[in-house]
Amino acid sequence: MERRGVKELERWSSRLVFVLAAIGSAVGIGNIWRFPMVVGQNGGGAYLIPYFLAVVGLAIPLMILEMAVGRHWRRNLVASFGRAGKRFEIVGWLICLIVLLILSYYLVIMGWTLAYMLFSLLGSTVTFSSFTSSLEPLACFLISVLATGLIVSLGVNMGIERTVSIMIPFAFLILVALVLFCVRLPGFHPGMDFFLRPDYSILSRPGVWSAAIGQAFFSLSVGMGILITYGAYLEDDMDIPQSALIITFSDLLAAMLAGIAIFSLVFTFGLEPAAGAELAFTTLPRAFELMPYGQIFSVAFFALLFSAALTSSISMMEMNVAAIMGQTGASRKRASIFLMILLVALGTPSALSYSSQDLRFFGSRILDLLDATVGTIGLPIAALLVAITFRWLIDDDILAGQVHLSERWLRALRTLTKYVIPAALLLITAAMIMEL
Ligand code: TRP
Repeated sequence: MERRGVKELERWSSRLVFVLAAIGSAVGIGNIWRFPMVVGQNGGGAYLIPYFLAVVGLAIPLMILEMAVGRHWRRNLVASFGRAGKRFEIVGWLICLIVLLILSYYLVIMGWTLAYMLFSLLGSTVTFSSFTSSLEPLACFLISVLATGLIVSLGVNMGIERTVSIMIPFAFLILVALVLFCVRLPGFHPGMDFFLRPDYSILSRPGVWSAAIGQAFFSLSVGMGILITYGAYLEDDMDIPQSALIITFSDLLAAMLAGIAIFSLVFTFGLEPAAGAELAFTTLPRAFELMPYGQIFSVAFFALLFSAALTSSISMMEMNVAAIMGQTGASRKRASIFLMILLVALGTPSALSYSSQDLRFFGSRILDLLDATVGTIGLPIAALLVAITFRWLIDDDILAGQVHLSERWLRALRTLTKYVIPAALLLITAAMIMEL
């Protein structure tokens, strides 16, 4: 066991690629369509207050803790939990399972973005309902599984690094180009009015606060052990808090830019600002149809969504591959193939849930059900387990050893991770379970 545990892991070949990989994990479908909608519907600019507090007070400290834990032991998530005692390994596996379930439906949505990118390339307009009633979503889901598995099977340096070094600059370039175009549209001002006009009355609603915390964790991919895994490949001289700030800023920037572009478009063409899948796959395609050069914008937008999704999905997959490799001694290739098969089994019901098969469970589509359960409640639970294990059960002050900050900042970080984060997570987990 020990011998396997200390097997040399790969290392990021530069600080930049690590930051790009972490940004890749953070910036995903969540930023581009979930964030703008959540903000628009929850008090506009006022929602940014709880969101910002959640990011600064909870998500960034936990992100720093995760990276520190990863670099301290340089082990996969399961083995890291095992440092608290062999029986805690099961907790690590539980989190792996939560992430795998999230990944299973995330890949379905990624498949939709791929399909819409291809449709726009071919110049065909396909309604969401006719698309989902075909078997194309299943085919695109399988391609997404294959693409993600292939990249991860190539390894940290050959697979993940190369992908993020191309995809992340590409995604930001598209995003900036879209925004530069959209700020000149007539719908820019009404769009921003809808997106950002603050309605402070929402601040008294507890549900808004827990939604903001959940969105912050989901968007930054924090609390799921992903950064423990990525942190294990970090060089010792890398500045962890500074990287955390860069990653967070980029994630926030991507979300805000996406909001500006999306709402300018929606209001320019007099469309309804709708939620979720509706927005990206029904409302926006209509806007693209109406605008000059809409085809180019459509291709660009779905290419952006696809690349954002791909760099997120590889982080979720890598975490599971690393755990299987480290714990069983399997090769990277075998672990990847095993997980790809598992993902096909887990994700096929979600892929079919919007189709004519209309797979439902307790009256909800399976994809929505998974998002509402593991994707929403699984998150604070996993984050709680991470915070408690690494701040209460194993407390040999990993933070002080890995994070070089002044005594004051370090003390704040210790207090936040030990008391404030577990308390906040406990509260919102309880609130979410009661709301079920
Ligand atoms: N952060 C990604 C997004 O905004 C999604 C994501 C990637 C994620 N890895 C995760 C969500 C791990 C939860 C857990 O779309």
